[in-house]
Amino acid sequence: DKGPYQHYMLKEIFEQPGVVAETLEGRIYKGRLLEESFGYETRELLDQTRQIHIIACGTSYHAGLVARYWFEDIGIPCMVEVASEYRYRHTVVPEGTLFVTITQSGETADTLAALRGAKDKGYLGSLVVCNVPESSLVRESDVALMTRAGTEIGVASTKAFTTQLVALRLLVLAMAKRMGYTEDDLRGYIEELHSLPRQMEVVLGLNESIEQMARSFSDKEHALFLGRGPFYPIAMEGALKLKEISYIHAEAYPAGELKHGPLALVDEKMPVICALPNDPLLDKVLSNLQEVRARDGELFLFSDQEVKIELDKYQSLTLSDIHPSTAPIVYTVPLQLLAYHVALIKGTDVDQPRNLAKSVTVE
Ligand code: M6R
Repeated sequence: DKGPYQHYMLKEIFEQPGVVAETLEGRIYKGRLLEESFGYETRELLDQTRQIHIIACGTSYHAGLVARYWFEDIGIPCMVEVASEYRYRHTVVPEGTLFVTITQSGETADTLAALRGAKDKGYLGSLVVCNVPESSLVRESDVALMTRAGTEIGVASTKAFTTQLVALRLLVLAMAKRMGYTEDDLRGYIEELHSLPRQMEVVLGLNESIEQMARSFSDKEHALFLGRGPFYPIAMEGALKLKEISYIHAEAYPAGELKHGPLALVDEKMPVICALPNDPLLDKVLSNLQEVRARDGELFLFSDQEVKIELDKYQSLTLSDIHPSTAPIVYTVPLQLLAYHVALIKGTDVDQPRNLAKSVTVE
């Protein structure tokens, strides 16, 4: 039932504050991580974990890419790869490596095959971040960390992605403890997670402005999404959403790579979308965007109250109350809405895009 919404995708975007809160339920409390909720077996595995290999497909792969920044921040080496490539590679598995899969459905053929293939490679064990308790990947993994997004019907994954990031954040905090972080060190991060549903509500309030933005967009044939640091995978996710449901060719690039090729594509017909959070790379991204403006590229920016943008022409929306550790999750929401509204204007089938299936159970 879509309720008051025109599409499942829109309904699922708006469900995010609720399902994020649900995914945190019983796992954090008053600034503490409730590790007991992970179960004994998971905690034992985490005790021995020195590094992590993350394998997934599509949107779930992007969640893994964001998590890599988080794991590395606390000193845990982390490799992330798409399942269809990983399967056919001879991976070297260092001692103490945990094999992690991320999958909404738990039925993705390549991810499942990667898990099966990993069994005799010398991993400590396997953990799946999944949304479907009775799925094959949950059954075949040693332990599972469930997202609680509820059924996701739209082929374009939205609430599954943000709840995956929340689950991964919990995992990062559990590992941080093992890396010597004290409860006091972690309190701030846990509070940031706790306030995430509220932050997402605020962004959802921008829906109408995003719809406006989408109007200058729907006649475009190409789009470039830029980001740096953890916002690079968020740019990848934004580009995937747009191409999947609006059929506009969209590419994501780390902003620093612009000069190494894609800048040649930029002219007045090229929209460039970028998340501009207030983070240590801000000045670098701004100077990358200057390059875009110098070639007449049209800028669509999502930024932070505290950021001063000095560019000659752009459209922007300002997000407020952003915290660094959860910012990639919050910044995902406007990109989902942008893709949705562009598709709506173009009249494509938002919930069931051509050629795609919700769950890819063949190679
Ligand atoms: O169920 P999974 O998370 O394993 O699915 C992986 C991809 O097929 C999926 O994320 C796909 O990329 C989505 N349609 C993206 O919106």
